[in-house]
Amino acid sequence: MRKIVIAGNWKMNKTVADSVKLAAEVVAAAKDVKNVVVAIAPTYLALAKVAEVVKGSNVKLAAQDVHWENQGAYTGKVSADMLKEIGVDFVIIGHSEQRTYFGETDETVNKKVRKVQSLGLTPIICIGETLAERKDGRLEAVLTTQVNGAYAGLSRDEALRTVIAYEPVWAIGTGVTASDDEAQEAHAFVRGLLAKLYGDSVAQSISIQYGGSMKPENAAGLLAQKDIDGGLIGGAALKADSFLGIVTPGETIHK
Ligand code: PGA
Repeated sequence: MRKIVIAGNWKMNKTVADSVKLAAEVVAAAKDVKNVVVAIAPTYLALAKVAEVVKGSNVKLAAQDVHWENQGAYTGKVSADMLKEIGVDFVIIGHSEQRTYFGETDETVNKKVRKVQSLGLTPIICIGETLAERKDGRLEAVLTTQVNGAYAGLSRDEALRTVIAYEPVWAIGTGVTASDDEAQEAHAFVRGLLAKLYGDSVAQSISIQYGGSMKPENAAGLLAQKDIDGGLIGGAALKADSFLGIVTPGETIHK
């Protein structure tokens, strides 16, 4: 049985006050959610305040990034220890915006995944191809490199405590979603990669989210696909009603 995990990635949006307000709205709207793991990822600045809002609720806290060291001279960075202290459960790692704008590589993704893992937090490992890579027929090669890179050195037990987010870069923030079939095909391929690394039963236990212009209108179709186990939501997570409009269809789906 795999869990459906739906996480709102707020990116660089919302002041602290607005984050607290939205978090409270999500907590209230999600209070009867039972089968879906719901998480929200505010900015670093708002995390500690939002941690107080979600405490005791069924909404989990996620961070948008992390550094791989515990502490030290890394201006601008935040460590996994610090995230753990305030009650963070999930850490988004390797988002395409980190890869494109801030020099994230498969190697840094791996270092972050291992650090987060070692502290008992769950990484949400983001992978996905650009439009040019897809058009060049490199989808499978790109996903293979990203998955093998992210999981390098991870044991079977550690792999079981990970979530993957397949996010085709051309679908992020563009309003263009991968079709249900396109997404399912990529997800099945990713699960096959996990099976090669860890065997079928581990691969069948890891939740693979879809991300990229997911919204209430397309959520039910995507979530019904055999290998799509949730979503990483950007734009549609910035309002409680549209975010819950994605969570609700997940409630009746069992994987
Ligand atoms: P989007 O972003 O839903 O706005 O496309 C998804 C993401 O970047 O995680």
